[in-house]
Amino acid sequence: MITNTQLEYRGNQFPNAIKSFEQTINNLFFTAENGVVLCVTVLRDSLLRFRFTTEGVFENDFSYAIDEESIHGYNKLEVVDDTYKYTIITNKVKCIINKADMRVGIYDLEGNSILEDELGFHWEENYEYGGNIVKMSKSTVDGESFYGLGDKPTHFNLKGKRVSNWNTDEYAYNTDRDPLYKTVPFYVGLRKGIAYGVFFDNTFRTYFDFCQERRNVTSFWADGGEMNYYFFYGPEMQQVVSVYTDLTGKPELPPLWALGYHQCKWSYYPEAKVRDTAAKFRELQIPCDAIYLDIDYMEGFRCFTWNKNYFPDPKKMVADLMEDGIKTIVIIDPGIKVDPEYSVFQEALENDYFCHRADGPYMRGKVWPGRCYFPDFTNPEVREWWTDLFEELIEDIGVKGVWNDMNEPAVMEVPTKTFPLDVRHDYDGNPCSHRKAHNVYGMQMSRATYEGVKKFAYPKRPFVITRAAYSGTQRFTSFWTGDNVANWEHLWLATVQVQRMCISGMSFVGTDIGGFAEQPTGELYARWIQLGVFHPFCRTHSSGDHGEQEPWSFDEDVLNISRKYIELRYTLLPYLYTAFWRYATEGEPIIKPLVYFDQTDVQTHYRTDEFIFGRKILVCPILEFNVQGRRMYVPRGKWFNYWTDEVVTGGREMWVEAPLHIMPMFIKEGAIIPRYPVQQYVGEKTIDELTLDVYYKLGEEKSLVYEDAQDGYDYTKGRYSIMNFKLIGKKDELVIQQHHEGKFDTDYNDLKFRLHGVPFEITKVFIDNEEVSLKDLTSDSENAIKVNKIFSDIRLVGNK
Ligand code: GLC
Repeated sequence: MITNTQLEYRGNQFPNAIKSFEQTINNLFFTAENGVVLCVTVLRDSLLRFRFTTEGVFENDFSYAIDEESIHGYNKLEVVDDTYKYTIITNKVKCIINKADMRVGIYDLEGNSILEDELGFHWEENYEYGGNIVKMSKSTVDGESFYGLGDKPTHFNLKGKRVSNWNTDEYAYNTDRDPLYKTVPFYVGLRKGIAYGVFFDNTFRTYFDFCQERRNVTSFWADGGEMNYYFFYGPEMQQVVSVYTDLTGKPELPPLWALGYHQCKWSYYPEAKVRDTAAKFRELQIPCDAIYLDIDYMEGFRCFTWNKNYFPDPKKMVADLMEDGIKTIVIIDPGIKVDPEYSVFQEALENDYFCHRADGPYMRGKVWPGRCYFPDFTNPEVREWWTDLFEELIEDIGVKGVWNDMNEPAVMEVPTKTFPLDVRHDYDGNPCSHRKAHNVYGMQMSRATYEGVKKFAYPKRPFVITRAAYSGTQRFTSFWTGDNVANWEHLWLATVQVQRMCISGMSFVGTDIGGFAEQPTGELYARWIQLGVFHPFCRTHSSGDHGEQEPWSFDEDVLNISRKYIELRYTLLPYLYTAFWRYATEGEPIIKPLVYFDQTDVQTHYRTDEFIFGRKILVCPILEFNVQGRRMYVPRGKWFNYWTDEVVTGGREMWVEAPLHIMPMFIKEGAIIPRYPVQQYVGEKTIDELTLDVYYKLGEEKSLVYEDAQDGYDYTKGRYSIMNFKLIGKKDELVIQQHHEGKFDTDYNDLKFRLHGVPFEITKVFIDNEEVSLKDLTSDSENAIKVNKIFSDIRLVGNK
């Protein structure tokens, strides 16, 4: 941490008066008399990039975060040169640059101030390492709020906080511990109702101060590299997050099974234990799609090997589990055991793939296997080699997913917990020290792993999960929040961290359900499962040294509650998959914090617990023990209590009942929620009917259901099915219109509409304008009708 506060420190230098301006297409260069150059690049009408150099020339423009496929293009770019300022005008914003001191201000077209420099760009020379400590400060207004920054375990609104980014293995962290495993130097500001974003794409150790040091100043700075940040204009948070996610990249769709329930522990071994655990899920009829092998499956913790005493025939075990619908996922860490007899070590040594210290020796460090060397994943050749190492695991043995851990990178028994700063990295042909490469090490490892799993699983889809990450890592892998603890504080952190990750572009995320360290009570486990089934990634994991942590390890009640909620997740899979599809195509977070859902309601700005799952389900976890209910904030609009169908009007805090088997959930009126039958694993059953829960609304509401083959890449060739629904509710009529897209033909022919809250008795039904007898449509349950999936208009009419 820099201890000198920005104000006190007297070594700061600033750009001075602008002496020249040059434009090459969308790059605008402003040069100050002291040699500082500011390059503003207009990428979209709502997306501007700012880069500063104090050296007259810029560094090679290379970033691991930016997705080459991100969308650029603007409608307008005009530069006006006045006596005291330059003004850059796009279709969305005006950016003013003062000639006297290079300070920048960004405004919307109505003249509202969005983001203005306070001191603006300033820097301190770094005598020890060379280069600069680069800094930026912005002025803020009262009531401004801040969100984002990845996995910070702190209040959801970052106002008043100072945080830093340096990927760190933080076993059993607690609230406010900083930094943790991931680096996402991106925040969303909400200023007088207008949302904007800032992404500081600098991989050195970075810092953000949100009005902590000074009440009306937000600043960010880095230990090295360039002041290089992107500005996103909203005015809605939706646009900010979606353009940020587009810029840093969206993931492919995962195989649907990856959205099922996963069971993990450190460690399930030997083989018999793995088989027993899998069998128990089936015996107790608790749905489960994957089981994880932690480090003990390996021979002496050597990656890509198997301990043949514990697992004499991994291929057979993996195949047998697969017969039962259980996919095997294995852990792979970056540390390679120093062992001249071990082929992975030999190959890397022969090819010079390991990281070196500044003066030449290998980077040595202790991890699980003892003394290790570490591949330099920032070298493309090393990544290619790593990719090919997965052939046997994936293609031959049949493992379905890979879990990357300890990739901050974590090193044991040293105070800094990681590599020394002098370690050298290739950085894709931009050689540098660990100061610059540290925060991307895990990202590049999981990228190489993803390439490997994809190559050998093809034409199936890969599944990878990582602990460490930098912005953009969502293109390759899912995430979990690391070594949490089995206590109620961590259950609160779970809801906050997952929401934060979701608006930081990383939606495919979950926590170790029940807590990794220590042991949960049955009640805590039950409450955690209730929350966890609504997280995009859903896995129980524990360190295993404090007892068992499977859904049946507690009492009958907890077992039944776990089953009930895991079943609920399985029935909601088409809904979750649709939300994932929106994330993968539009960068829309799968989980939406209340402020994202309704930023115009100031009541949402400081909410932490409740969130929206997908677009229409409001979830409020129970985060305290021994309670029978709680107060929660229900956002504006009308909502159906999921458990009782009672309709409540939001925009207020209210008491909700929550005995142990109930977690408060509400469905937005007008919603159409797709549901599959309960399956013990994805693909167990042929879906021969899709249930659609229809929640009446006086007015209109749109919904859609996305489906495809649930695995493979046919969906990229148009073989998907999208049912676009529009619900139109009137006093005595309910209309459901459908518009279908895509070439995928679902297995089912029938849709079962289950009607909730229809305020009239249905007397007539018209399908595509033809009257049909109600009797013919009535399904097994009273409030449901069954119709063929091919229709464009259903009208349910009541007594006039
Ligand atoms: C780390 C991981 C944890 C894993 C353990 C052993 O602590 O975060 O999930 O079980 O290492 O591999």
